[in-house]
Amino acid sequence: MAVIADRCPHIDVTVVDLNEARIAAWNDPDINQIPIYEPGLEAVVSRTRGRNLFFSTTVNAAISSADMVFISVNTPTKNKGIGAGQASDLRWVEACARQVAQHAQGHTVVIEKSTLPVRTAAVIKAILDTPQRKPKNNEILPTFSVLSNPEFLAEGSAIRDLEKPDRVLIGGDDAAAVDALATIYSHWVPSEKILRTNLWSSELSKLISNAFLAQRISSINSVAALCEATGADVHEVALAIGTDSRIGSKFLSAGPGFGGSCFKKDILNLVYLCRHFSLPEVADYWEQVIELNNWQKNRIAGLLVQRLFGTVTGKRLAILGFAFKADTNDTRESPAISISLDLLEEGAQLAIHDPKVDPSQIARDLKKSQSHSSAGLNGEGTWLFSSTVVEAVQDADAVLILTEWDQYRELNWKELAKIMRAPAWVLDTRSVVDPVEITEAGLHLWRLGEGAD
Ligand code: UGA
Repeated sequence: MAVIADRCPHIDVTVVDLNEARIAAWNDPDINQIPIYEPGLEAVVSRTRGRNLFFSTTVNAAISSADMVFISVNTPTKNKGIGAGQASDLRWVEACARQVAQHAQGHTVVIEKSTLPVRTAAVIKAILDTPQRKPKNNEILPTFSVLSNPEFLAEGSAIRDLEKPDRVLIGGDDAAAVDALATIYSHWVPSEKILRTNLWSSELSKLISNAFLAQRISSINSVAALCEATGADVHEVALAIGTDSRIGSKFLSAGPGFGGSCFKKDILNLVYLCRHFSLPEVADYWEQVIELNNWQKNRIAGLLVQRLFGTVTGKRLAILGFAFKADTNDTRESPAISISLDLLEEGAQLAIHDPKVDPSQIARDLKKSQSHSSAGLNGEGTWLFSSTVVEAVQDADAVLILTEWDQYRELNWKELAKIMRAPAWVLDTRSVVDPVEITEAGLHLWRLGEGAD
Protein backbone atom coordinates (compact mmCIF):
# COMPACT_ATOMS: atom_id res chain seq x y z
CA MET A 1 0.00 0.00 0.00
CA ALA A 2 2.93 2.30 0.72
CA VAL A 3 4.24 1.72 -2.79
CA ILE A 4 0.81 2.40 -4.34
CA ALA A 5 0.66 5.66 -2.33
CA ASP A 6 4.19 6.53 -3.45
CA ARG A 7 3.54 5.91 -7.15
CA CYS A 8 0.02 7.42 -7.17
CA PRO A 9 0.12 10.69 -5.20
CA HIS A 10 -3.43 11.48 -6.36
CA ILE A 11 -4.85 8.42 -4.55
CA ASP A 12 -5.46 8.43 -0.81
CA VAL A 13 -4.51 5.12 0.81
CA THR A 14 -5.70 4.38 4.34
CA VAL A 15 -4.32 1.28 6.07
CA VAL A 16 -6.65 0.18 8.86
CA ASP A 17 -6.30 -2.40 11.58
CA LEU A 18 -8.10 -3.20 14.82
CA ASN A 19 -4.76 -3.49 16.61
CA GLU A 20 -4.13 -0.05 18.11
CA ALA A 21 -0.56 -0.74 19.15
CA ARG A 22 0.36 -1.82 15.64
CA ILE A 23 -1.21 1.25 14.04
CA ALA A 24 0.49 3.46 16.63
CA ALA A 25 3.80 1.87 15.67
CA TRP A 26 3.21 2.66 11.99
CA ASN A 27 2.47 6.26 13.04
CA ASP A 28 5.57 6.52 15.23
CA PRO A 29 7.22 9.89 14.52
CA ASP A 30 10.57 8.07 14.57
CA ILE A 31 10.55 6.33 11.19
CA ASN A 32 13.11 3.79 12.45
CA GLN A 33 10.42 2.40 14.76
CA ILE A 34 7.99 1.18 12.07
CA PRO A 35 7.21 -2.44 12.87
CA ILE A 36 8.64 -4.22 9.83
CA TYR A 37 12.29 -4.30 8.84
CA GLU A 38 12.41 -4.21 5.05
CA PRO A 39 15.17 -2.50 3.05
CA GLY A 40 13.84 0.68 1.38
CA LEU A 41 10.50 0.69 3.21
CA GLU A 42 11.36 3.53 5.57
CA ALA A 43 12.12 5.86 2.66
CA VAL A 44 8.80 5.06 0.95
CA VAL A 45 6.81 5.51 4.16
CA SER A 46 8.63 8.77 4.98
CA ARG A 47 7.71 10.20 1.58
CA THR A 48 4.05 9.22 1.76
CA ARG A 49 2.93 9.10 5.38
CA GLY A 50 0.63 12.01 6.18
CA ARG A 51 0.58 13.00 2.48
CA ASN A 52 -1.64 10.30 0.97
CA LEU A 53 -0.81 7.30 3.16
CA PHE A 54 -2.59 7.10 6.49
CA PHE A 55 -2.61 4.50 9.26
CA SER A 56 -5.77 4.37 11.32
CA THR A 57 -8.00 2.25 13.56
CA THR A 58 -11.26 3.81 12.35
CA VAL A 59 -12.06 0.82 10.17
CA ASN A 60 -15.75 1.50 9.49
CA ALA A 61 -15.24 5.11 8.40
CA ALA A 62 -12.41 4.08 6.09
CA ILE A 63 -14.62 1.41 4.48
CA SER A 64 -17.49 3.88 3.99
CA SER A 65 -15.34 6.37 2.15
CA ALA A 66 -13.39 3.84 0.04
CA ASP A 67 -13.84 3.13 -3.66
CA MET A 68 -11.63 0.07 -3.30
CA VAL A 69 -10.97 -2.16 -0.30
CA PHE A 70 -7.96 -4.49 -0.22
CA ILE A 71 -8.44 -7.42 2.16
CA SER A 72 -4.93 -8.19 3.43
CA VAL A 73 -5.53 -10.11 6.63
CA ASN A 74 -3.59 -13.24 7.46
CA THR A 75 -4.89 -16.72 6.71
CA PRO A 76 -2.96 -19.09 8.98
CA THR A 77 -3.20 -22.86 8.67
CA LYS A 78 -6.15 -24.14 10.72
CA ASN A 79 -5.01 -25.82 13.92
CA LYS A 80 -8.30 -27.54 14.72
CA GLY A 81 -11.52 -28.71 13.14
CA ILE A 82 -12.04 -29.84 9.56
CA GLY A 83 -8.83 -29.56 7.55
CA ALA A 84 -6.70 -28.94 10.67
CA GLY A 85 -3.01 -28.79 9.79
CA GLN A 86 -3.69 -28.13 6.10
CA ALA A 87 -6.61 -25.85 5.25
CA SER A 88 -6.42 -22.09 5.74
CA ASP A 89 -8.32 -20.45 8.55
CA LEU A 90 -10.57 -17.96 6.79
CA ARG A 91 -12.23 -16.43 9.82
CA TRP A 92 -10.50 -13.06 9.42
CA VAL A 93 -11.32 -12.88 5.74
CA GLU A 94 -14.94 -13.63 6.47
CA ALA A 95 -15.06 -11.07 9.30
CA CYS A 96 -13.59 -8.46 6.93
CA ALA A 97 -16.11 -9.27 4.22
CA ARG A 98 -18.96 -8.85 6.70
CA GLN A 99 -17.59 -5.56 7.95
CA VAL A 100 -17.18 -4.27 4.39
CA ALA A 101 -20.73 -5.37 3.55
CA GLN A 102 -22.04 -3.45 6.56
CA HIS A 103 -20.26 -0.18 6.04
CA ALA A 104 -19.60 0.26 2.32
CA GLN A 105 -21.36 3.03 0.42
CA GLY A 106 -22.21 3.06 -3.28
CA HIS A 107 -20.17 0.71 -5.48
CA THR A 108 -17.04 -0.77 -3.93
CA VAL A 109 -14.39 -2.94 -5.54
CA VAL A 110 -13.22 -5.53 -3.00
CA ILE A 111 -9.82 -7.02 -3.70
CA GLU A 112 -8.41 -10.20 -2.17
CA LYS A 113 -4.76 -9.56 -1.44
CA SER A 114 -4.39 -12.29 1.19
CA THR A 115 -3.34 -15.65 -0.25
CA LEU A 116 -6.46 -17.74 -0.19
CA PRO A 117 -7.63 -21.18 -1.15
CA VAL A 118 -9.16 -21.36 -4.59
CA ARG A 119 -12.80 -20.31 -4.75
CA THR A 120 -12.62 -18.10 -1.64
CA ALA A 121 -13.70 -15.17 -3.77
CA ALA A 122 -17.01 -16.98 -4.06
CA VAL A 123 -17.36 -16.87 -0.26
CA ILE A 124 -16.54 -13.17 -0.17
CA LYS A 125 -19.01 -12.54 -3.02
CA ALA A 126 -21.75 -14.51 -1.28
CA ILE A 127 -21.34 -12.45 1.89
CA LEU A 128 -21.20 -9.15 0.03
CA ASP A 129 -24.24 -10.00 -2.09
CA THR A 130 -26.38 -10.78 0.95
CA PRO A 131 -27.78 -7.51 2.31
CA GLN A 132 -26.18 -7.07 5.76
CA ARG A 133 -28.43 -4.18 6.72
CA LYS A 134 -31.91 -2.88 6.05
CA PRO A 135 -31.99 0.22 3.85
CA LYS A 136 -32.81 3.34 5.88
CA ASN A 137 -35.32 5.77 4.25
CA ASN A 138 -34.48 5.86 0.56
CA GLU A 139 -30.94 4.58 0.96
CA ILE A 140 -29.58 2.66 -2.01
CA LEU A 141 -27.85 -0.51 -0.85
CA PRO A 142 -24.19 -0.87 -1.73
CA THR A 143 -22.98 -2.98 -4.64
CA PHE A 144 -19.68 -4.84 -5.00
CA SER A 145 -17.21 -6.30 -7.47
CA VAL A 146 -14.73 -8.88 -6.18
CA LEU A 147 -11.23 -9.21 -7.65
CA SER A 148 -8.24 -11.37 -6.82
CA ASN A 149 -4.88 -9.60 -6.89
CA PRO A 150 -2.30 -11.90 -5.28
CA GLU A 151 0.96 -10.50 -4.01
CA PHE A 152 4.23 -11.94 -5.31
CA LEU A 153 6.77 -9.88 -3.36
CA ALA A 154 9.39 -11.69 -1.31
CA GLU A 155 10.51 -10.43 2.09
CA GLY A 156 13.85 -8.68 2.10
CA SER A 157 13.36 -7.51 -1.49
CA ALA A 158 9.75 -6.35 -1.16
CA ILE A 159 10.21 -2.77 -2.35
CA ARG A 160 12.25 -3.80 -5.38
CA ASP A 161 9.75 -6.57 -6.21
CA LEU A 162 6.84 -4.12 -5.99
CA GLU A 163 8.53 -1.37 -7.98
CA LYS A 164 9.67 -3.73 -10.75
CA PRO A 165 7.36 -6.72 -10.62
CA ASP A 166 7.73 -9.62 -13.07
CA ARG A 167 3.95 -9.38 -13.42
CA VAL A 168 0.84 -8.13 -11.68
CA LEU A 169 -2.06 -10.56 -11.70
CA ILE A 170 -5.67 -9.41 -11.61
CA GLY A 171 -8.44 -12.00 -11.59
CA GLY A 172 -12.09 -11.12 -12.02
CA ASP A 173 -15.02 -11.07 -14.39
CA ASP A 174 -16.12 -7.44 -13.97
CA ALA A 175 -14.14 -5.73 -16.72
CA ALA A 176 -14.69 -2.23 -15.32
CA ALA A 177 -13.36 -3.24 -11.90
CA VAL A 178 -10.37 -5.02 -13.45
CA ASP A 179 -9.64 -1.89 -15.52
CA ALA A 180 -9.86 0.34 -12.45
CA LEU A 181 -7.26 -1.72 -10.59
CA ALA A 182 -5.07 -2.11 -13.69
CA THR A 183 -5.08 1.69 -14.07
CA ILE A 184 -3.57 2.06 -10.60
CA TYR A 185 -0.71 -0.33 -11.39
CA SER A 186 -0.20 1.18 -14.84
CA HIS A 187 1.27 4.28 -13.15
CA TRP A 188 4.51 2.32 -12.83
CA VAL A 189 4.06 -1.17 -14.28
CA PRO A 190 4.23 -1.66 -18.09
CA SER A 191 0.81 -2.76 -19.38
CA GLU A 192 2.13 -6.04 -20.85
CA LYS A 193 3.10 -7.09 -17.33
CA ILE A 194 -0.45 -6.68 -16.02
CA LEU A 195 -2.08 -10.07 -16.56
CA ARG A 196 -5.84 -10.48 -16.49
CA THR A 197 -7.35 -13.88 -15.72
CA ASN A 198 -10.51 -15.32 -14.29
CA LEU A 199 -10.85 -15.29 -10.49
CA TRP A 200 -10.01 -18.94 -10.00
CA SER A 201 -6.89 -18.88 -12.19
CA SER A 202 -5.61 -15.90 -10.24
CA GLU A 203 -6.18 -17.54 -6.85
CA LEU A 204 -4.67 -20.82 -7.99
CA SER A 205 -1.64 -19.18 -9.67
CA LYS A 206 -0.52 -17.76 -6.35
CA LEU A 207 -0.53 -21.17 -4.67
CA ILE A 208 1.16 -22.79 -7.66
CA SER A 209 3.90 -20.13 -7.94
CA ASN A 210 4.88 -20.75 -4.35
CA ALA A 211 4.59 -24.52 -4.77
CA PHE A 212 6.94 -24.44 -7.81
CA LEU A 213 9.46 -22.23 -5.99
CA ALA A 214 9.44 -24.45 -2.91
CA GLN A 215 9.67 -27.52 -5.13
CA ARG A 216 12.90 -26.19 -6.67
CA ILE A 217 14.38 -25.73 -3.20
CA SER A 218 13.42 -29.25 -2.10
CA SER A 219 14.82 -30.56 -5.39
CA ILE A 220 18.18 -28.86 -4.97
CA ASN A 221 18.34 -29.81 -1.27
CA SER A 222 17.81 -33.45 -2.21
CA VAL A 223 20.60 -33.11 -4.79
CA ALA A 224 22.86 -31.53 -2.13
CA ALA A 225 22.65 -34.73 -0.06
CA LEU A 226 23.48 -36.80 -3.12
CA CYS A 227 26.44 -34.52 -3.91
CA GLU A 228 27.80 -34.98 -0.38
CA ALA A 229 27.56 -38.75 -0.81
CA THR A 230 29.12 -38.91 -4.27
CA GLY A 231 31.82 -36.23 -4.16
CA ALA A 232 29.96 -33.84 -6.48
CA ASP A 233 29.56 -30.14 -5.59
CA VAL A 234 26.00 -28.80 -5.49
CA HIS A 235 27.14 -25.30 -6.57
CA GLU A 236 28.70 -26.73 -9.70
CA VAL A 237 25.61 -28.83 -10.39
CA ALA A 238 23.31 -25.81 -9.80
CA LEU A 239 25.41 -23.72 -12.19
CA ALA A 240 25.45 -26.45 -14.80
CA ILE A 241 21.72 -27.07 -14.76
CA GLY A 242 20.75 -23.41 -14.16
CA THR A 243 22.48 -22.21 -17.32
CA ASP A 244 19.96 -24.22 -19.33
CA SER A 245 17.54 -21.41 -20.15
CA ARG A 246 14.66 -23.85 -19.84
CA ILE A 247 15.58 -24.40 -16.18
CA GLY A 248 16.96 -20.97 -15.19
CA SER A 249 19.39 -20.06 -12.44
CA LYS A 250 17.16 -18.75 -9.65
CA PHE A 251 16.01 -20.65 -6.57
CA LEU A 252 18.72 -23.24 -6.90
CA SER A 253 20.61 -22.42 -3.70
CA ALA A 254 20.74 -25.41 -1.41
CA GLY A 255 20.18 -24.44 2.23
CA PRO A 256 18.90 -25.56 5.60
CA GLY A 257 15.36 -25.86 4.23
CA PHE A 258 12.85 -23.22 3.18
CA GLY A 259 11.09 -21.14 5.79
CA GLY A 260 8.83 -18.10 5.77
CA SER A 261 5.15 -17.67 6.29
CA CYS A 262 4.07 -18.76 2.84
CA PHE A 263 5.61 -21.82 1.22
CA LYS A 264 4.53 -24.42 3.75
CA LYS A 265 1.11 -22.87 4.32
CA ASP A 266 0.37 -22.54 0.62
CA ILE A 267 1.50 -26.07 -0.24
CA LEU A 268 -0.58 -27.47 2.63
CA ASN A 269 -3.50 -25.57 1.19
CA LEU A 270 -2.83 -27.04 -2.23
CA VAL A 271 -2.62 -30.53 -0.75
CA TYR A 272 -5.91 -30.00 1.05
CA LEU A 273 -7.55 -28.77 -2.15
CA CYS A 274 -6.32 -31.78 -4.13
CA ARG A 275 -7.66 -34.21 -1.52
CA HIS A 276 -10.94 -32.27 -1.44
CA PHE A 277 -11.25 -32.64 -5.20
CA SER A 278 -10.41 -36.38 -4.99
CA LEU A 279 -6.92 -36.13 -6.45
CA PRO A 280 -4.90 -38.05 -3.83
CA GLU A 281 -1.91 -38.72 -6.14
CA VAL A 282 -1.57 -35.00 -6.87
CA ALA A 283 -1.86 -34.24 -3.16
CA ASP A 284 0.87 -36.77 -2.30
CA TYR A 285 3.14 -35.35 -5.00
CA TRP A 286 3.09 -31.84 -3.54
CA GLU A 287 3.16 -33.02 0.06
CA GLN A 288 6.52 -34.61 -0.65
CA VAL A 289 8.00 -31.10 -1.15
CA ILE A 290 7.25 -30.36 2.52
CA GLU A 291 8.39 -33.76 3.71
CA LEU A 292 11.72 -33.31 2.03
CA ASN A 293 12.04 -29.90 3.66
CA ASN A 294 11.43 -31.40 7.12
CA TRP A 295 13.97 -34.11 6.37
CA GLN A 296 16.54 -31.50 5.37
CA LYS A 297 16.14 -29.55 8.64
CA ASN A 298 16.50 -32.73 10.73
CA ARG A 299 19.48 -33.78 8.65
CA ILE A 300 21.41 -30.58 9.51
CA ALA A 301 21.06 -31.09 13.27
CA GLY A 302 22.01 -34.77 12.88
CA LEU A 303 25.11 -33.92 10.85
CA LEU A 304 26.32 -31.50 13.48
CA VAL A 305 25.93 -34.06 16.24
CA GLN A 306 27.77 -36.61 14.10
CA ARG A 307 30.69 -34.20 13.49
CA LEU A 308 31.01 -33.49 17.23
CA PHE A 309 31.79 -37.15 17.99
CA GLY A 310 28.14 -38.22 18.34
CA THR A 311 27.17 -35.94 21.20
CA VAL A 312 26.52 -32.25 21.77
CA THR A 313 25.40 -32.57 25.38
CA GLY A 314 26.93 -29.69 27.33
CA LYS A 315 28.80 -28.46 24.25
CA ARG A 316 28.57 -24.84 23.24
CA LEU A 317 27.31 -24.20 19.72
CA ALA A 318 27.13 -20.80 18.07
CA ILE A 319 24.07 -20.40 15.82
CA LEU A 320 24.63 -17.59 13.33
CA GLY A 321 21.33 -16.39 11.92
CA PHE A 322 17.80 -17.02 13.14
CA ALA A 323 15.69 -15.22 10.50
CA PHE A 324 14.29 -17.47 7.73
CA LYS A 325 16.42 -15.59 5.18
CA ALA A 326 18.70 -12.54 5.10
CA ASP A 327 17.41 -8.95 5.16
CA THR A 328 14.35 -9.66 7.25
CA ASN A 329 13.62 -9.92 10.98
CA ASP A 330 10.89 -12.48 10.25
CA THR A 331 11.38 -15.90 11.86
CA ARG A 332 8.14 -17.58 10.83
CA GLU A 333 8.83 -21.22 9.91
CA SER A 334 12.55 -20.43 10.00
CA PRO A 335 14.63 -23.62 9.74
CA ALA A 336 16.65 -22.21 12.66
CA ILE A 337 13.70 -22.93 14.96
CA SER A 338 13.46 -26.68 14.39
CA ILE A 339 17.23 -27.11 14.10
CA SER A 340 17.73 -25.28 17.43
CA LEU A 341 14.99 -27.36 19.07
CA ASP A 342 16.63 -30.57 17.83
CA LEU A 343 19.98 -29.45 19.26
CA LEU A 344 18.42 -28.40 22.59
CA GLU A 345 16.83 -31.83 22.74
CA GLU A 346 20.34 -33.26 22.38
CA GLY A 347 21.46 -31.18 25.39
CA ALA A 348 23.46 -28.49 23.55
CA GLN A 349 24.20 -25.01 24.90
CA LEU A 350 23.23 -22.63 22.11
CA ALA A 351 24.55 -19.10 21.71
CA ILE A 352 22.28 -17.52 19.11
CA HIS A 353 23.15 -14.43 17.09
CA ASP A 354 21.05 -12.59 14.51
CA PRO A 355 21.58 -8.96 13.49
CA LYS A 356 17.86 -8.16 13.26
CA VAL A 357 15.82 -10.70 15.20
CA ASP A 358 14.79 -9.67 18.70
CA PRO A 359 15.71 -12.10 21.53
CA SER A 360 12.10 -12.04 22.77
CA GLN A 361 11.04 -13.40 19.38
CA ILE A 362 13.56 -16.21 19.66
CA ALA A 363 12.19 -17.02 23.13
CA ARG A 364 8.66 -17.22 21.70
CA ASP A 365 9.85 -19.43 18.84
CA LEU A 366 11.74 -21.81 21.10
CA LYS A 367 8.95 -21.61 23.70
CA LYS A 368 11.67 -21.60 26.31
CA SER A 369 12.85 -18.68 28.36
CA GLN A 370 16.41 -17.59 28.06
CA SER A 371 18.68 -19.28 30.55
CA HIS A 372 22.15 -18.21 31.54
CA SER A 373 22.56 -20.51 34.50
CA SER A 374 23.19 -24.21 35.13
CA ALA A 375 23.94 -24.58 31.44
CA GLY A 376 24.12 -28.20 30.45
CA LEU A 377 23.66 -29.61 33.93
CA ASN A 378 21.48 -32.74 33.95
CA GLY A 379 21.91 -32.94 30.20
CA GLU A 380 19.22 -30.37 29.35
CA GLY A 381 19.91 -27.92 26.56
CA THR A 382 19.99 -24.18 27.16
CA TRP A 383 20.21 -21.15 24.94
CA LEU A 384 21.19 -17.53 25.23
CA PHE A 385 21.17 -14.59 22.87
CA SER A 386 24.51 -13.08 21.88
CA SER A 387 24.52 -9.53 20.62
CA THR A 388 27.78 -9.99 18.71
CA VAL A 389 29.27 -12.82 16.68
CA VAL A 390 32.38 -12.81 18.88
CA GLU A 391 30.23 -13.27 22.00
CA ALA A 392 28.38 -16.19 20.34
CA VAL A 393 31.54 -17.89 19.14
CA GLN A 394 33.45 -17.54 22.44
CA ASP A 395 34.35 -21.05 23.71
CA ALA A 396 32.17 -22.72 21.08
CA ASP A 397 32.87 -26.23 19.77
CA ALA A 398 31.12 -25.45 16.52
CA VAL A 399 29.60 -22.58 14.55
CA LEU A 400 26.45 -23.33 12.57
CA ILE A 401 25.53 -20.74 9.94
CA LEU A 402 21.81 -20.80 9.16
CA THR A 403 21.05 -17.38 7.57
CA GLU A 404 23.00 -15.79 4.74
CA TRP A 405 23.47 -12.35 6.33
CA ASP A 406 26.18 -10.37 4.53
CA GLN A 407 28.08 -9.78 7.76
CA TYR A 408 28.73 -13.52 8.05
CA ARG A 409 30.62 -13.37 4.75
CA GLU A 410 33.17 -11.00 6.25
CA LEU A 411 34.09 -12.68 9.54
CA ASN A 412 37.70 -12.82 10.64
CA TRP A 413 38.08 -16.59 11.07
CA LYS A 414 41.72 -16.35 12.16
CA GLU A 415 40.61 -14.36 15.21
CA LEU A 416 37.45 -16.40 15.84
CA ALA A 417 39.40 -19.68 15.73
CA LYS A 418 41.49 -18.45 18.69
CA ILE A 419 38.46 -18.17 20.97
CA MET A 420 36.86 -21.51 20.01
CA ARG A 421 37.42 -24.86 21.69
CA ALA A 422 39.52 -27.17 19.50
CA PRO A 423 38.89 -29.29 17.52
CA ALA A 424 36.42 -26.68 16.32
CA TRP A 425 33.97 -26.95 13.42
CA VAL A 426 32.25 -24.53 11.08
CA LEU A 427 29.09 -25.90 9.46
CA ASP A 428 27.98 -23.60 6.70
CA THR A 429 24.49 -24.34 5.36
CA ARG A 430 24.37 -21.17 3.23
CA SER A 431 27.76 -21.24 1.52
CA VAL A 432 28.77 -17.84 2.86
CA VAL A 433 32.27 -18.59 4.17
CA ASP A 434 35.48 -18.83 2.19
CA PRO A 435 36.70 -22.45 2.60
CA VAL A 436 40.37 -21.44 2.28
CA GLU A 437 40.11 -18.94 5.15
CA ILE A 438 38.46 -21.52 7.39
CA THR A 439 41.02 -24.22 6.81
CA GLU A 440 43.92 -21.76 7.06
CA ALA A 441 42.53 -20.75 10.48
CA GLY A 442 42.87 -24.39 11.57
CA LEU A 443 39.13 -25.03 11.71
CA HIS A 444 37.25 -28.03 10.32
CA LEU A 445 34.71 -27.12 7.66
CA TRP A 446 31.52 -28.75 6.44
CA ARG A 447 29.58 -27.04 3.65
CA LEU A 448 26.17 -28.16 2.53
CA GLY A 449 26.22 -30.03 -0.75
CA GLU A 450 29.97 -30.53 -1.03
CA GLY A 451 31.28 -34.04 -1.10
CA ALA A 452 34.69 -34.97 0.21
CA ASP A 453 37.20 -35.65 -2.58
C1 UGA B 1 7.91 -16.21 -1.12
C2 UGA B 1 7.91 -16.04 -2.64
O1 UGA B 1 9.25 -15.98 -3.13
C3 UGA B 1 7.17 -14.76 -3.05
O2 UGA B 1 7.08 -14.68 -4.47
C4 UGA B 1 5.77 -14.80 -2.44
O3 UGA B 1 5.05 -13.61 -2.74
C5 UGA B 1 5.88 -14.94 -0.94
O4 UGA B 1 6.57 -16.16 -0.63
C6 UGA B 1 4.50 -14.96 -0.37
O5 UGA B 1 3.71 -15.87 -0.72
O6 UGA B 1 4.13 -14.00 0.33
P1 UGA B 1 9.37 -15.21 0.88
O7 UGA B 1 8.77 -16.33 1.69
O8 UGA B 1 9.34 -13.84 1.43
O9 UGA B 1 8.67 -15.13 -0.57
O10 UGA B 1 10.92 -15.54 0.61
P2 UGA B 1 11.75 -16.40 -0.45
O11 UGA B 1 12.81 -15.54 -0.99
O12 UGA B 1 10.87 -17.08 -1.44
O13 UGA B 1 12.46 -17.49 0.48
C7 UGA B 1 11.72 -18.54 1.10
C8 UGA B 1 12.66 -19.53 1.73
O14 UGA B 1 13.35 -20.28 0.74
C9 UGA B 1 13.75 -18.91 2.60
O15 UGA B 1 13.92 -19.68 3.77
C10 UGA B 1 14.98 -18.98 1.72
O16 UGA B 1 16.18 -18.99 2.45
C11 UGA B 1 14.74 -20.28 0.99
N1 UGA B 1 15.48 -20.37 -0.29
C12 UGA B 1 15.20 -19.51 -1.32
C13 UGA B 1 16.44 -21.36 -0.46
O17 UGA B 1 16.70 -22.16 0.47
N2 UGA B 1 17.10 -21.45 -1.65
C14 UGA B 1 16.84 -20.60 -2.69
O18 UGA B 1 17.48 -20.77 -3.76
C15 UGA B 1 15.87 -19.61 -2.52
